[in-house]
Amino acid sequence: MKSAQRTAGSNAVNQPEQLQVIPSGAALGAEIRGVDLSQPVPDATRELLRKAWSDHLVLFWRKQTLPDEAFLAAAGIFGTPKEPAARKYQVAGGYRIGGRMVPLHPHLSLISNLDEDGNPVKDNGGLGSYEVVWHSDNSYVAVPPAGSMLYSIVIPTNGGGDTWFNNQYKAYEDLPADLKVAIKGRSQIHDASRNSAGVLRPTVKMPTKPEEVPGPAHPLVRIHPATGKPALYLGRRRDWPSNYIIGMSNADSEALLDRLWAHATQEKYAWKHVWQVGDVILWDNRCAMHYRSEVDSSQPRVMHRTVINGEAVIPG
Ligand code: OGA
Ligand code: MN
Repeated sequence: MKSAQRTAGSNAVNQPEQLQVIPSGAALGAEIRGVDLSQPVPDATRELLRKAWSDHLVLFWRKQTLPDEAFLAAAGIFGTPKEPAARKYQVAGGYRIGGRMVPLHPHLSLISNLDEDGNPVKDNGGLGSYEVVWHSDNSYVAVPPAGSMLYSIVIPTNGGGDTWFNNQYKAYEDLPADLKVAIKGRSQIHDASRNSAGVLRPTVKMPTKPEEVPGPAHPLVRIHPATGKPALYLGRRRDWPSNYIIGMSNADSEALLDRLWAHATQEKYAWKHVWQVGDVILWDNRCAMHYRSEVDSSQPRVMHRTVINGEAVIPG
């Protein structure tokens, strides 16, 4: 049956009946099989993929080969790809690896541990090889991206750099009653000064007190526009002074954030992705956070990344 479909021409690939959604078995995440993202994806399959994204929060595909335009087209199934907020902090229009200059499409950003000469390093001014703390992408802008997509080009052969995701619908659902009451109607300022590896963004001044923390306010509970469900929305938190809850003393805000973070980052809400070359992974920043373990800085790790346009945060 499959081979008959293949010989029938390009419109026989990526048919809805070929799509398989394989849940990770953890609190979120599913592998998609039967979809080659370098080929056209019919509307009926797109619909099923969007449904799978709503159901599982994180989707991944193995063994994809995606030129930049195909990668952007794949992201386009789930919304409108846009320039990632951190790209303005990156200077190069491309990157060097293995003595070769690779241009980078203007709608893509680079997640790598390479320095300007193309060598793996610990600190490259971006995420480098650092451990990346739990966060939701670009929560430090007024309209954060709905989703983010990573495509792995080079992966260290000796492990490290695993990416974890956690389910913030479940975290909210399970929140102790007193915490639910404590955060009701409250918002926090989301710290734009440092990236999720703790590196100060170029041209930004390190804050010395909460009033100096730059960034927008977002509600602690948000409603997902597609599912209508509430999720805890913590965003990120760097060393003090960083995110803080508006309208509380700093001590009360810190104590409440400590409890919320301890609750939200429990392992029972999480799932770990171990990368292979050619993986594509899509996550939802509105209801999931992610974390990356440290990368072996003697080995290159290179990914292309895009983000999907979001909508104003809906308070829960
Ligand atoms: C990101 C990110 C994690 C990783 O691209 O937003 O957090 O695994 N990356 O590199
Ligand atoms: Mn991130």
